[in-house]
Amino acid sequence: MERLRVDLRKAINAVSDVVQNRPRPLREFDQIHMKSGDMVLQSEMVADWADGKRLAFIGDGDAISVCVAYMRKRGVLNFGPSKITVFDFDERTVQAVKRFADKERIEHLDAVLYNCFDEFCSATKYDCFYTNPPWGAYNNGESVNLFVERGVEAVGYHGEGMIVIADDDELPWPKQVLASVQKFSRERGFYVSKMQRKLHTYHLDDAPDLQSCNLYVSSLPGNDVNETPSLPATPERLANFYGRSQQLRVKYVREKKILNYGMAHEDEYSLEMVKDPP
Ligand SMILES: C[S@@+](CC[C@H](N)C(=O)[O-])C[C@H]1O[C@@H](n2cnc3c(N)ncnc32)[C@H](O)[C@@H]1O
Repeated sequence: MERLRVDLRKAINAVSDVVQNRPRPLREFDQIHMKSGDMVLQSEMVADWADGKRLAFIGDGDAISVCVAYMRKRGVLNFGPSKITVFDFDERTVQAVKRFADKERIEHLDAVLYNCFDEFCSATKYDCFYTNPPWGAYNNGESVNLFVERGVEAVGYHGEGMIVIADDDELPWPKQVLASVQKFSRERGFYVSKMQRKLHTYHLDDAPDLQSCNLYVSSLPGNDVNETPSLPATPERLANFYGRSQQLRVKYVREKKILNYGMAHEDEYSLEMVKDPP
C-alpha cells in the first residue's frame, strides 16, 4: 500500500491528545518525558519500523505506543504495528493507556502491569520490542540491560528491538552505557543493525541538552542457541538502578484515583471571589 504523506498539523494534534492523557512523570523513577516535536517524528519512525508486526513496549511513560496506535486510528498514518502491548510497573501509565484505547476504540492497543525485576511471561509472542528505560548512568547501563533482557524475552530471542538511550559526545557515561548495551545484546545473539544518533530531547531541568539515540538490534540467524528461561533479576543488578543510591525497591506505582490528567488538580489552586457580584 502506498504510504500517506504525513499531515503535520494532524500529527501534532494527535500527539497533543496523547500528551493530555499522560500521567505526570515521577523523577525518582527516571520518568522524564520526551518533547512533543520529537514524539511526532519518533512515532512515525516506530510505526514504519514495526509495520504489520506485534510490538511490545518495555516501559513507556512517554506514550509513544499510544501515539503510534492513535495516529493510525486517526488516519494520520496508514501503516503501523498490528498489535501493541505496554508492560510498565506504573499503574497510572497502564490505566491511562487502557482508558485511551477504550475511549478511542483502538482494539490493537493494550497495557499490562509488570515490573521488569520479575521473570517475563506472556501468552503472546512479539516480533519486536521498544524500550526507553532508565539510562543507567550510575550502574554502567545495567538498568538498560535488564529492560533489554525483557524485550529479548518478549520476542522469544527472534526479532528486532529499538532501544532509546542517552547519546552525548561530551559526557563519558553515555558512551560506556552504549558499549555495555551493545555487548549485552551481542551476548544474547543480537547485533546492532542501525543507530540513529542524537534524535530526541527531554523535559529534564538539570540536563536540558542531553539527547538520546535509537539503537536498533536484530537477532542473528539460528539464535535458538542463546535461548534461556526467563528468571527474576538478582538483587545485585538493582543497585543504582534509577541513579546514584537509587536502588530498585518499588514493585508497582499504584494509581490512587482516576484523574483527568489534562485538567488542573483541585489541590493546585484556590479561588478568590469577586467582592460584590452583580
Ligand atoms: C524509566 S522511564 C525512562 C524515561 C522515558 N523517557 C519515560 O519517561 O518513559 C521509562 C518507563 O519505565 C517504567 N519503569 C520504571 N521502572 C520500571 C520497572 N522496574 N519495571 C517496569 N517498568 C518500569 C516507567 O514507569 C516509565 O514508564
